[in-house]
Amino acid sequence: MADWRSEEFYKERRDELEKRVGPRRFKHSLGVSETAEALARVYGADKTAARMAGLLHDWDKGYDDPGILARADELGMELDAELSAMPRVLHGLTAAVALGRAFPELPPKVLAAVERHTLGAVDMSDLDMIVYIADALEPGRKGKMVQKLREKVGELELRDLFLGVYAYWVQLIMERRHPMYSKTTEIWNSYMPEQEVYRAEANPDPVPYGRP
Ligand SMILES: [Fe+2]
Ligand SMILES: [Fe+2]
Repeated sequence: MADWRSEEFYKERRDELEKRVGPRRFKHSLGVSETAEALARVYGADKTAARMAGLLHDWDKGYDDPGILARADELGMELDAELSAMPRVLHGLTAAVALGRAFPELPPKVLAAVERHTLGAVDMSDLDMIVYIADALEPGRKGKMVQKLREKVGELELRDLFLGVYAYWVQLIMERRHPMYSKTTEIWNSYMPEQEVYRAEANPDPVPYGRP
């Protein structure tokens, strides 16, 4: 098996990706790869894994809606009714399965970060969060909010930065009238106890929520 950490492995996957997606998506993927590596440096995560997961995260983005549903079926994935009706978010899930089969040398943590870059999860690892954030903040992404979030890199804890990006995406989904994944609230809420800890550190005598 090839060494997934080698430069050669990275370049081979990069060249394959270029044939799988359009030029805009390819450029975006290189941006996410670079941004994920930079975030891993800032937040002390595995830089090679971040760079690789960033490169591969949109591996299956070249499929149209019927195509991605057929792809999931081909891969033997069982989708519930909700996910079947949201083909736009499936490319992360199918990519993780397909990449794991095509390149068994890729570690589960890289595949997990690819899988979770669309919907998130209740138990995101640092690497998962890094790829999720990089997808939104790579240099090709424009906008006031994106710029604001970029300025918070290194200033905020990784989890807080992730929540900032998550909130931004939820807002975009609503503004664009896209369907909201039913687990979004559950995912959001799962990070709230962490926030309580941060607040307690910042304010040694916090007023409990809901009390005067
Ligand atoms: Fe994506
Ligand atoms: Fe992406």
